[in-house]
Amino acid sequence: MSAADDSKRAVGFAAVDRYVRSGMCVGLGTGTTAHWAIERAGERVAAGDALTAVATSHATEALCRERGIPLVPFAGREIDVAIDGADEVAGDWSLTKGGGGALFREKAVALAARTFVVIVTPEKLVKRLGAFRTPVEVVPFAVEYVERAIASAFGAQVVRRGGDPPFLTDNGNAILDCAFGAIGDPAALDGELRGIHGVVATGLFSNDLTDAVLVAEPDGVRELTR
Ligand code: A5P
Repeated sequence: MSAADDSKRAVGFAAVDRYVRSGMCVGLGTGTTAHWAIERAGERVAAGDALTAVATSHATEALCRERGIPLVPFAGREIDVAIDGADEVAGDWSLTKGGGGALFREKAVALAARTFVVIVTPEKLVKRLGAFRTPVEVVPFAVEYVERAIASAFGAQVVRRGGDPPFLTDNGNAILDCAFGAIGDPAALDGELRGIHGVVATGLFSNDLTDAVLVAEPDGVRELTR
């Protein structure tokens, strides 16, 4: 296993070990870091813990099935804790997510969870969001309209994800990756973008969603304090 995978494994395992107890319903994220939280949840189920899970993507759903983690539908029951990776974590704990295209379900699960735990490697920590292009999920019918609206309202460079065929999310929607530069107020920008007809969701997570941030440092897993 590479050193990068080792770090992701350490932080994914730590999140489950610190925040998940038998009897809980766990929201399980998507991506190469969340992967390890799913693996750990699978080990816990195999060892006899009574866990159920809500999956944030088809890929996570498939891995949960392989690992024997019982799935429940979103809103099937209350989510005690959600664990997920991020593309950027700002100093105020706002996030950019959606590098894997699962942002709509990830945000739904984070919003519904009692506790939302973010797991990252150190290079994801930034002062302000924006170096990573903001993913915006868009109904395909309106994609050109939204692309032009974002470019003209924000002067942002906007690129549709994927080639030919273009990338489609688990919801059958397109993703526009938008370069806004440093983002001063992620919650406000999220609201403005969602005001454009055709936008379903954005990868900007406001800082009030995040309850804990675990970072895989070379000498162990560090939990940030606000
Ligand atoms: C999936 O859509 C994303 O939000 C991921 O959680 C995010 O891209 C982080 O993924 P990695 O852990 O693979 O970097």
